Amino acid sequence: MCGIVGYSGEKKALGILLSGLQSLEYRGYDSAGISLKKGKKIETIKTKGKVTDLITLIAESNIDTSATIGIGHTRWATHGAPSSTNAHPHYTERVSVVHNGIIENYRNLEKFLKEKNINRRTDTDTEIIALLLDLYLSEGFDFKNAFFKTVEMLKGSFAIAAISKDFDYMMLAKHESPLVIGLSNNETYIASDVSALIEYTHDFIFLEDGDIALIDKGNVTIWDKDKKETKRQPTQIDWSKEKAQKGGYKHFMLKEIAEEDEAVRNTIQSRIDEDGNVFLDEEISISKEFLKNLDRITIVACGTSFYAGLTAKPIIEKYTGIKVDVEIGSEFRYYNYLYSKNNLFIAISQSGETADTKEPLKMAKSKGIKTLSIVNVKESAIARLSDSCIYTLAGPEISVASTKAFTSQLAVLYMLAFYIAQLKGKDLKPQAKQLLKIPSLIKQTFDKTQDKTKELADKYYNYQDFLYLGRGICYPLALEGALKLKEISYIHAEGYPAGEMKHGPIALIDENTPTVVVAHPEEPLYSKSLSNCEEIKSRHGKIILVSNKQSDIVDDFIEVPKVDYDFAPFVYIIPLQLFAYYVALFRGNDIDQPRNLAKSVTVE
Ligand code: G6P
Repeated sequence: MCGIVGYSGEKKALGILLSGLQSLEYRGYDSAGISLKKGKKIETIKTKGKVTDLITLIAESNIDTSATIGIGHTRWATHGAPSSTNAHPHYTERVSVVHNGIIENYRNLEKFLKEKNINRRTDTDTEIIALLLDLYLSEGFDFKNAFFKTVEMLKGSFAIAAISKDFDYMMLAKHESPLVIGLSNNETYIASDVSALIEYTHDFIFLEDGDIALIDKGNVTIWDKDKKETKRQPTQIDWSKEKAQKGGYKHFMLKEIAEEDEAVRNTIQSRIDEDGNVFLDEEISISKEFLKNLDRITIVACGTSFYAGLTAKPIIEKYTGIKVDVEIGSEFRYYNYLYSKNNLFIAISQSGETADTKEPLKMAKSKGIKTLSIVNVKESAIARLSDSCIYTLAGPEISVASTKAFTSQLAVLYMLAFYIAQLKGKDLKPQAKQLLKIPSLIKQTFDKTQDKTKELADKYYNYQDFLYLGRGICYPLALEGALKLKEISYIHAEGYPAGEMKHGPIALIDENTPTVVVAHPEEPLYSKSLSNCEEIKSRHGKIILVSNKQSDIVDDFIEVPKVDYDFAPFVYIIPLQLFAYYVALFRGNDIDQPRNLAKSVTVE
């Protein structure tokens, strides 16, 4: 799981590579490097650390910055610890290579190379690619054919960009890791995703699995998995450069929380008319007859996307009458799931590249199950693999901790529930119309809770353990609230169903373990949540209540706008995200790139 970037054209490549790498740091940031080719010379600089460390190193070097061909990489270690040696590009005398993914058969390939007295200098699987390329070049193959021969030997997942000292073109290969080509006059850009290139072009070719490509300034040649030369239609992506940047906020995370109203609005606007009719016909190619007769929906996802599924489960069940299972991808893929007769499989993923979600999707497809995905990144693997895809139109989510993707995924799940119910002859126009009002309610919530969450974060940021409790529709929000706090503040936080507290977590309560209680005023759940608050109080625990209704039992209160129970998640999640953000801010953490985490987990 890494970010790769490349350029072939007439401009100086270095600046393009470095700014591309900075946009891609959310994919990995434990080391970074670049290779520049000028004439018959390739120069490489790489280091452990972030792209800023690389920039410092380059500034201190005397690398020839006039080169117009280059590749770059930002790494999230899989094989081999983060170090300068293991950082990409990996190079030999003749070639330099960047790679995202895992070469699963690297041990066998290493044996093959060792027999020829060729040895690795690093701990990475990637170096094998460079060594194989070098071998075939030394045997007299030209770069293109050496590349074809090398890629043929690789098993696993990979997006590869390679350059050679003796040839002026760049070679690319893609299999189960993303790789896009940005088109422009007399120049070509490549990257792991469009956010790295949006400032240069809006026209992209999304390579498909098995593709190999040759780029030479403005010329792009692509071969498909059968090695047949092929044309891939460019897609226009109209994300602005500003959209992919921080837009005045200190961190992407805060910017993305502030964008949640817009993200949800974009997601629902073109799909619900003012009368409350839901239009998903164009996006869902699965037959209406099949959807009408569904007897089960199986949702599979990871992390925040999993919690979006869990949050929407009671809504889908309530409005469609269809049983919903929500499963964690990494478990599901090794579990013999019993599908029912008319089962729909739904994969939810912001990135569309999460391996633990992608694999169950493939498994479902191989069993002939109809599949639908809810994805944010256009043309990503999960979007393309599924029978139908409904995109969340949240724009790029850069911060590793997911926020606007969550509410946008919820919006799609709600619309889907209304759509299926509509197909079954139910009138859910009032609910769909209510969903149309949610974006302005999200905005109100952000404005109303921002200062309060900041004030409370200041009060609580030194605590080491937190408990998050909720009942009914607020329970999955407690899980997501705790996840947000863990991810960016590194504080231990547990989300729990409030009623279950007495069966275990109550043992943790003392004056050093504050509890965040998420409670919609709907009775009887509110009164029951308050009883739980009493239990906490009598054990000297501090309580922060997130609700529309105040209580004098609690220590602190974050008041959210009034919202109907079914739509509460869109509102109640906002202060939980803000609280986590400000706690991490007061603790001085790297909010957008928390330690040990990556935005898009494309390995198991
Ligand atoms: C990683 C990210 C999480 C994200 C999860 C699922 O763990 O750090 O923020 O929720 O992957 O990602 P996806 O792209 O599939 O929604």
